[in-house]
Amino acid sequence: MNRDYCKPSTDHRTADMMLTSIGDSLQYRQKDSSNTSTASNNGVETDFSVNSETSKYRLSKTEKKKRRYELMAAHRKAFRRLAKVKQKANRLKRRNLLSGGVVDDKKKQDYPLNCLNKRERIRAIKGRLQDAIVSGQRICVDLGLESFMSAKECGRLAQQLCRVYGSNRKARCPAHLYFTSVDKNGFLYQECLRKNVGFENYMIDMTEKSHLEVFKHDEIIYLSPNSSNILHDISTDKVYVIGGLVDESVQRNVTHSRADQSGIETARLPISEYMDRSASGSYNQILTINQVFDILLAYMETRDWSIALPCGVPERKGFVIKDKSNGD
Ligand SMILES: C[S@@+](CC[C@H](N)C(=O)[O-])C[C@H]1O[C@@H](n2cnc3c(N)ncnc32)[C@H](O)[C@@H]1O
Repeated sequence: MNRDYCKPSTDHRTADMMLTSIGDSLQYRQKDSSNTSTASNNGVETDFSVNSETSKYRLSKTEKKKRRYELMAAHRKAFRRLAKVKQKANRLKRRNLLSGGVVDDKKKQDYPLNCLNKRERIRAIKGRLQDAIVSGQRICVDLGLESFMSAKECGRLAQQLCRVYGSNRKARCPAHLYFTSVDKNGFLYQECLRKNVGFENYMIDMTEKSHLEVFKHDEIIYLSPNSSNILHDISTDKVYVIGGLVDESVQRNVTHSRADQSGIETARLPISEYMDRSASGSYNQILTINQVFDILLAYMETRDWSIALPCGVPERKGFVIKDKSNGD
């Protein structure tokens, strides 16, 4: 699944061998030149050559200058060659990464796109997002709940949408993201434009239509913390809808009753099934939109709720993954 950690290609090894051989040859030249200068430091000031023939007579100032120039030119040439080979090797390494190469550095392993330069990284991210729009798992944020929120809550929702998009950009397998019921004349949209640079150019499907108009009813699963159904798995045949709602003073059942009225399926995340209560916490299972999205992304990559849930459930909620060795 993770194609970023595969075998090194032959190209990559060839480049490394080239680097070593050029490095050796440069070292040899440096040694050679240090021999020459040692001779000069040892008092044989005029002897710039290892050839015993030439060491018999004094060199003129112009000849000394010429030899020094030649030596420097040779050095410069060798350095330029080495730099070129290094550049080529780096280019190969980066290319290998995109098609699955070895990465030694921990940080780069965690997020292999770090190995690329900015332009290449943006190109790679755009490529992944474009692929996701064609064949990615569909996840939708329903932005038709503005009337349930205060101005402050709309502002917080705008920030959460920015995090959702940021997570999708970084994801190894991004989702095909939809924002539905977008009202371009509404306050929420203006907040999104104000708080999120480039919001209107997000690589997602943004539409004024509601999720009920965009998707078939039987493929929608509306996520709600109040649902009595448990989300056991994620399927590409389904689209998972997250309610675009920030309710600082909790408004229970808003999304659940809306989904029920429309006759669509609902489900809650399997928090109680995979997590135990720790010593302290709020034990509240209502998560923010970006937390839910991060869990879904992690599950899509790992297919394991015990890995995915901690990616979104904050520690302060007081949940820890169940200890499987207890046999619970
Ligand atoms: C802050 S919650 C809003 C909660 C709100 N009281 C409601 O009625 O949905 C924002 C959205 O995140 C999703 N969500 C949050 N916690 C969830 C959970 N434990 N299981 C499933 N979905 C959840 C739901 O889609 C929810 O509409």
